[in-house]
Amino acid sequence: MSKFWSPFVKDLVPYVPGEQPKLTKLVKLNTNENPYGPSPKALAAMQAELGDTLRLYPDPNSDLLKQAVARYYGVQGNQVFLGNGSDEVLAHIFHGLLQHDLPLLFPDISYSFYPVYCGLYGIHFDAVPLDEQFQIDPADYARPNGGIIFPNPNAPTGCLLALEAVEQILKANPASVVVVDEAYIDFGGETAISLVDRYPNLLVTQTLSKSRSLAGLRVGLAVGHADLIEALERVKNSFNSYPLDRLANVGGAAAFDDREYFAKTCRLVIDSREALVGQLKAKGFEVLPSAANFIFARHPQHDAAALAAKLREQGVIVRHFKQQRIDQFLRISIGTPEQNQALVEGVGEL
Ligand SMILES: Cc1ncc(COP(=O)(O)O)c(C=O)c1O
Repeated sequence: MSKFWSPFVKDLVPYVPGEQPKLTKLVKLNTNENPYGPSPKALAAMQAELGDTLRLYPDPNSDLLKQAVARYYGVQGNQVFLGNGSDEVLAHIFHGLLQHDLPLLFPDISYSFYPVYCGLYGIHFDAVPLDEQFQIDPADYARPNGGIIFPNPNAPTGCLLALEAVEQILKANPASVVVVDEAYIDFGGETAISLVDRYPNLLVTQTLSKSRSLAGLRVGLAVGHADLIEALERVKNSFNSYPLDRLANVGGAAAFDDREYFAKTCRLVIDSREALVGQLKAKGFEVLPSAANFIFARHPQHDAAALAAKLREQGVIVRHFKQQRIDQFLRISIGTPEQNQALVEGVGEL
């Protein structure tokens, strides 16, 4: 009953995640999960952890996983922050690093959780329009701000900003924290983590939900200067000492160590993406250039909502956003070649 609520709760506009249908037969191309399973080594590590030790709390610092991430990226352990999915990492970033007098900047079309965090923490923001080609123009971010955040590749467009352009934004904003949300970077981009030692204002976030196929485990991370990480640790340790459980700690570390499986499955997704783009273009779709594990496509003669409904009737679910500028697009996650074929068949003759 709302009379019991803290006053700010009635004004919250929560994020709405993509549907997780109960029907298992559906071809699920709506939430950018990985169609291939997690690394068998990660699964084995988690199975080995299942036992009496679950009585005990996990390591509050997740040192095993921090070290695996630090090894992988060639950084120090105190440059790595971990959380229960990158959504939690992002929440702590908004709370601990992006709450300032000047407005936070992010693209008008980007991850729809950003304005939700702004609502939760009372952060002012300006949504900066993408250009006509749905690209980020670094020049638009050279103005006073209280911080900058953007996904790279962007979501839901899939478009990649080159590393030089990311650096241009960093150079123009030495007094602001610049957060690069690299949830999808492994499917065709180059991580900005190589820049963290030169830019103390850079924070890069990543997730194990996409390229490491562990969306169900909930592990996300941030890499940046130790001072930025310390702010996040303070917020985390004022909120939940143990956001990563024992399975997440060992499974996440094993997933990072299994480079071979990671490289193989990323390649499969990238190859399927290119094949699917070709098939959809042959049917008259316009597809934005994607460096992610999803594509953003529209058909000039067919309404996107109607297409999504038609696909659903055929047992294929994709994501449609009722949002200005993009309401004629569908965001389609890359599945296995068989799932992608079901999508192409579901679209039918146009
Ligand atoms: C751009 C972007 N950032 C972050 C996330 C959050 O991922 P997770 O909380 O699973 O790590 C997503 C999930 O879809 C995303 O699209």
